[in-house]
Amino acid sequence: MSVGILTSGGDAPGMNAAVRAVFRSIKMEQPRRAIAVFRGGFRGLAVDDSMSAHILERAQTRGIIHRGGTFLGTGRLPELAIPDDASEAELDRRASYLDAAIATLARMKIDHLVIIGGDGSFRGARRIAEHHRARHPGQPFRIVGIPGTIDNDIHGTDYSIGFDTALNNVVDAIRKIRDTVESHKRAILLEVMGNSSGWLALQSAIAGGASVVAIPEIESTSDHDRIVRRLVQGARRDYRYFIIVFAEGVRMRDDGWARRLKERIETDAALARELGAPMEARINAVGHVARGGSPSALDNTLAGLLGSAAADIVLSGQVGDGPALDGDVMVGCRGPRAHALPLTAVIDASPRLVSEESPLYRLSLRLTLRAEQPF
Ligand code: F6P
Repeated sequence: MSVGILTSGGDAPGMNAAVRAVFRSIKMEQPRRAIAVFRGGFRGLAVDDSMSAHILERAQTRGIIHRGGTFLGTGRLPELAIPDDASEAELDRRASYLDAAIATLARMKIDHLVIIGGDGSFRGARRIAEHHRARHPGQPFRIVGIPGTIDNDIHGTDYSIGFDTALNNVVDAIRKIRDTVESHKRAILLEVMGNSSGWLALQSAIAGGASVVAIPEIESTSDHDRIVRRLVQGARRDYRYFIIVFAEGVRMRDDGWARRLKERIETDAALARELGAPMEARINAVGHVARGGSPSALDNTLAGLLGSAAADIVLSGQVGDGPALDGDVMVGCRGPRAHALPLTAVIDASPRLVSEESPLYRLSLRLTLRAEQPF
């Protein structure tokens, strides 16, 4: 039987290293086992041509470990997100995709499908597995998920592949933007990706020394009055730059949030009094740049660890000396150690969001500007 691999959802630096690690770990034990890869995420699973699906050879993995993005291509497939209560026509569209996908899996004799992506990709993968078991009862088939998203919002793993590289990209942006902010004594509102979660914004604000961080999970962090009071405290103590990092989830919830905060800062009398002139503010976004560039050493290490753990599931049904798990699983990390857990548990508890008890959130309260800044 063969193994299939695809990358899905937003690309994440380190995905290539994960594909390479799955491939090498299996081939080291079973050199004759075919490893099939699919291009363009789930779309490649249902298109029957050699461009979309082919058997991976070692030569094709040469050098990919250093490349960002995913050499397999990725994407999102709306057919897999069609809900059970959709119209008959929509459900037919979903069923025809699923039939095509499991026909490919059967034709290529795939009994393990490795999905590198986020929780949206795992939901789609579960649909394929359910359809496969309904159509081919008793035939061995399972999904092995590897968490790959810069959002780091996946339950069951301390880190997802791509987060560390994105974190370093955002911190680099903060450091670069600080020069101009300090020169003009301005405020910069810097938007950071993260979908509905604030992990990337939170940790990059801490690591980059930002003045303020706003995340969608905790309402008070995006309160304009509270932010301006913290800026006044900084201005009063002659702080030289004002960088407000905010997660895109804050904007997704209120499209005018940044524009109104900019206007509020530029017209605030207390700030003008402290600075001797109105404070200027600008709005920037790191955007997709956060996902670019060569993967960090940490991301490639994590990708190796999780790719190898996924291979363990293929080869022995368990990760190292961990429990033998049946059904669809995801591999994840707890510190430096890999483990596996049921995919359903991951899906039900994702996206993993920041809470008031999160140690990183509590750390941000201590290290960013306060409304009562004693020094
Ligand atoms: O899930 C990763 C991510 O980068 C999110 O942070 C972001 O909201 C989304 O993908 C952007 O999706 P796209 O690349 O399709 O614009």
